[in-house]
Amino acid sequence: MGGREATMVLLDENGIRCDGRKIDETRKIMIKAGVLKNADGSAYIEFGDNKILVGIFGPRDVHPKHMSDTDTGILRVRYHMEPFSVTERKNPAPSRREIEISKVIKEALEPAVMLEKFPRTAVDVFIEVLQADGGTRCAALSAASVALADAGIPMRDMVAACASGKVADTIVLDVNNEEDQAGQADMPIGYMPNLKKITLLQLDGILTSDEFKKCVDVGINGCKIVYELQKKALTDKYFGNGSN
Ligand code: CDP
Repeated sequence: MGGREATMVLLDENGIRCDGRKIDETRKIMIKAGVLKNADGSAYIEFGDNKILVGIFGPRDVHPKHMSDTDTGILRVRYHMEPFSVTERKNPAPSRREIEISKVIKEALEPAVMLEKFPRTAVDVFIEVLQADGGTRCAALSAASVALADAGIPMRDMVAACASGKVADTIVLDVNNEEDQAGQADMPIGYMPNLKKITLLQLDGILTSDEFKKCVDVGINGCKIVYELQKKALTDKYFGNGSN
C-alpha cells in the first residue's frame, strides 16, 4: 500500500483513474459459458486484462473413499496460475497464495451449491489463470459460478464477485493491479444477489468504519453488474444467442 506520491497519479483532478475509468466503473467484462467440450461444465472470463478458464468435473465418486461424506457432497477447488500469467515467471508448483485463494473460493462457493443433493460425491472446480492483472480471485469466483451452473449442478444462487477499494483517499470500484499495489485498500467481495448474502469478504489495507461500509456498498454494486453478465453468459449458451 503506497504513500502520497502514488496517490497523486492514481486519481487525477477530474476523478479519472490511472486506466481512464471513473471511480464507480468496472473494467470491461466478458463471460462465456460452456467453452470446453470434455469438462462437465466450464466458463471463460475476461475481466480487464485478467483471462481465466474454469472447468468442472462432477459430481463423481470420491477416491480415496474415506475422504467422502455420507451426508453431503464435497466441493474441491484448485486455483492455479500459469507460469506465463504474470510478468515474472510463476513457479508452476502451488504457492501459499494459490492455496489460500483456492480455499477462499471454495468457501465462497459452498453456500451457493446444493451439495446435500449428492452425498458421497465430489465436485471439482479447476481454475486456470491464463493472464493476471489484479482481481483474479473475484474474476475466478464469478467464472466458477457460471461453470457450476453450466455443469447443471443445482444452486441456490450464483456468486458474483468484484473488489472495491481505497485509492487516493477515495472509495473506488474494481481495483486494478496498479491500484492494488499502490492504493490504500483492496476489498474483494463475493455476493449472491438473489439471496442478498455475502460469501467472500477480505480486506487488505486500513479503512475507517464509514469507509468500510461504503466499500461494501460499492463492491456489492459491482457484484450486481457482474451478476447480469453471468446470467447473460448462460442465456447466450442455453437460449441460442451465442455461438455455442
Ligand atoms: O489477483 P488478486 O487481486 O485476487 O490477488 P492478489 O494476491 O492481491 O494479487 C494481485 C495481483 O498481483 C494478481 O492479480 C497478479 O496480477 C499479481 N501477481 C503477480 O504479478 N505475481 C504473482 N506471483 C502473484 C500475483
